[in-house]
Amino acid sequence: MNEIINVTEAKAVKVPTLPDAQTVTQVKHWTDRLFSFRVTRPASLRFRSGEFVMIGLMGDPDPKTGKQKPLLRAYSIASPSWDEELEFYSIKVQDGPLTSRLQHIQPGDEIILRPKPVGTLVHDALLPGKRIWFFATGTGFAPFASLLRDPQTYEDYDEVIITHTCREVGELTYGAELIESIRKDELLQELIGEENLKKLRYYPTTTRETSPKMGRITDLMRSGEAFTDLGVAPLSPENDRAMVCGNLAFNLELKEMLEGYGLREGANSAPKEYVVEKAFLD
Ligand code: A2P
Repeated sequence: MNEIINVTEAKAVKVPTLPDAQTVTQVKHWTDRLFSFRVTRPASLRFRSGEFVMIGLMGDPDPKTGKQKPLLRAYSIASPSWDEELEFYSIKVQDGPLTSRLQHIQPGDEIILRPKPVGTLVHDALLPGKRIWFFATGTGFAPFASLLRDPQTYEDYDEVIITHTCREVGELTYGAELIESIRKDELLQELIGEENLKKLRYYPTTTRETSPKMGRITDLMRSGEAFTDLGVAPLSPENDRAMVCGNLAFNLELKEMLEGYGLREGANSAPKEYVVEKAFLD
């Protein structure tokens, strides 16, 4: 969607034709339902790990007026705030207005990115604690992909536990590879510190395909199995902080459970013990 105009005979310059356009630099398909991609980052964009922005494509022309409007959805930024580019992790919905088209982007294409990051899954919305839990289902892993690469996560807590529940094993791959890269990547080791990285615990589970740990995280917590596996006590408002991002039913169920453990929902303006954000679907 770039117009190539010749400035001189020797040099062609790309002129963005979209408002707030950013260029796709990489696309990776993880399963037939999931993909991630990276885009250029606007020079002025500052964000806090865990926040989201509106991204999308130009919609089809209105049949009456012929005018095109941007088709935008909220997407958590999956890359850390120090990264030069921005990364996103997305579901593909075959008849979804945006993702049915977004799934076909290629490096060099442009997307629209409104540079106004917002969100509740930020460290500022939590009071200091000893252990932080990141609870994700499906593409709800995205904001944690950012937070897990943020040195502050490890500076603020003695222990960092990320749980990820998906239907099938293949849906865990993006998260599993990210955890692996955090543990192995020299740049991340330098940034976060080798000692600090030992604080990271990863607890993946599946519900519809056999894997080493099966079951919904909510059920595994209720039965106590998750705490036994991890060798930690059930959550308490004194020690534990939590961030939740998944499908609506999961968010509601976990919110109720966290309240049951005595944790209270926080916000940027009033930090407390846990925060929730939903994974946005097409
Ligand atoms: P399940 O297979 O038992 O429904 P989805 O792809 O539908 O968004 O689901 C992602 C994962 O979240 C699935 O493993 C699903 O389990 C799980 N899940 C769905 N609802 C809940 C809930 N209320 N509590 C815990 N996990 C849930």
